[in-house]
Amino acid sequence: MDWIERRREQLERAGQAHLLRFWDELNEAERAELRGDLDGCDFSEVEHFFCQAVKASGPLQQQQQTMDERMEPVPKEVQGSVTRDRERLPEWKAEGLLQISESKVAVLLLAGGQGTRLGVTYPKGMYNVDLLSQKTLFQIQAERILKLQQLASKQFERKCTIPWYIMTSGRTMESTEEFFVKNGYFGLQKENIILFQQGMLPAMTFDGKAILEGKSKVAMAPDGNGGLYRALGNKEIVKNMEDRGIGYIHVYCVDNILVKVADPTFIGFCVKQQADCGAKVVEKTNPTEAVGVVCKVNGLYQVVEYSEITLVTAQKRNPDGRLTFNAGNICNHFFTLPFLKDIVEIHEPQLRHHVAQKKIPYVDDQGQQIIPDKPNGIKMEKFVFDIFQFSKKFVVFEVLREDEFSPLKNADSQDGKDTPTTARHALMSLHHRWVLNAGGYFVDENGTRIPAIPSSTTGMSEAVTAVDNDNLKELTDLPIKCEISALVSYAGEGLDKYVAGRDFRPPLIIDENGAHELTKNGL
Ligand code: UTP
Repeated sequence: MDWIERRREQLERAGQAHLLRFWDELNEAERAELRGDLDGCDFSEVEHFFCQAVKASGPLQQQQQTMDERMEPVPKEVQGSVTRDRERLPEWKAEGLLQISESKVAVLLLAGGQGTRLGVTYPKGMYNVDLLSQKTLFQIQAERILKLQQLASKQFERKCTIPWYIMTSGRTMESTEEFFVKNGYFGLQKENIILFQQGMLPAMTFDGKAILEGKSKVAMAPDGNGGLYRALGNKEIVKNMEDRGIGYIHVYCVDNILVKVADPTFIGFCVKQQADCGAKVVEKTNPTEAVGVVCKVNGLYQVVEYSEITLVTAQKRNPDGRLTFNAGNICNHFFTLPFLKDIVEIHEPQLRHHVAQKKIPYVDDQGQQIIPDKPNGIKMEKFVFDIFQFSKKFVVFEVLREDEFSPLKNADSQDGKDTPTTARHALMSLHHRWVLNAGGYFVDENGTRIPAIPSSTTGMSEAVTAVDNDNLKELTDLPIKCEISALVSYAGEGLDKYVAGRDFRPPLIIDENGAHELTKNGL
């Protein structure tokens, strides 16, 4: 029996025979393409995933009510906070830097997403949000790694490495690799950047049929950022970590322009608490904000999405006025290697896929591609945080949103949320504050000092003073154009020598060559 007969039989048994309905019309190249897609799918497994995922998604209202009854907030004793635990921050940071200096810390980037909302055809890490330097997200992250290696090496007088594991997908692997090669790995060593691919699954109609997006192309999508654990099982990555003597892994998403890659304070906090798993969070202040919250459900840690709870629960407040469920998940996690190994080797199959309803392009019976204007099917995705439930010692570390979280999700639009503009402004505003806190000033075109914005940041000096609300609004709407290379400062440290007592007319760039005011014509 040849391939096509065998395959037809298998697909018929799995209820997916429609995938071959254009076979007789296809040329050799198209047949090879379709064959590749079909060979990459185990349809009995896909059917199993689909049934599990759909069963678990159930009627919304019923789910919300039962979730509300089972939820409780993160207990105080497992929390750390950059605002409430100020006096302990130096101790945690020192511990984190020590671990980094011993080359025990790795970072793992989740970069397998499709970035459909942003609407680009290339990996999101290659996106340039139009900073003064025109650096991409990948470059910003690479330079933070480089700087942190330098800081730890200097403090402990030994060379160290933070290996960078990057998860890509079938759709992003090649271009990601090419981008790093073309850019000389941004100054990092090639052997310390380890790319690997996550799995893909077919997109399905609501009644469980895989969708053909072209006559010879199955609509395939990456299996979610929780596809990490399966990908790690297949790809020898855990072994690579063991061989390098890695003890701790910082996992994060590609799209947060403010991400503190391998943040020593977060790592140190988790290590000192002897946690096997930790989540960095920001305070959720608006009950209707569509952000997942870290909490306990039936006694186990979990992220509960905004859509999974009723408004009444989302609005619950503590006596101090803060939301009861306020630990906003920012997809920024700490794992010990033994914990990660257990997930990969034992627990991964227990993680179920979530269902995301999507508009999925498909071919009609005439072979014409149709772009639907409302959701016509689902993608099945596992989530990276679904493993909190297996932690034996889970901790939560709260940081300030304006310092650490500004994700790039959507294309620019008027008043858009999480766009290139909001990401650019968030970074500039942070760097503006760093300059002020290091004793620098900004002046307007007449040379008059621009009033400073108040700092809510921890660990900063009190040099920054409050201004009236009108001024503040003007400043926050249009941030002062200022960018500091991560090669100069990882988190605002070491800037005095560049800025103390000096007046700057923006735009201002501070890089390894010093502080430069840019004229209208550029440098
Ligand atoms: P998002 O859920 O925001 O998805 O990913 P996305 O793919 O970037 O964007 P949309 O939804 O298509 O518009 C959050 C993080 O998880 C990664 C992304 O690369 C991003 O860092 N991710 C997502 C994966 O690594 N794999 C996936 O299958 C999905």
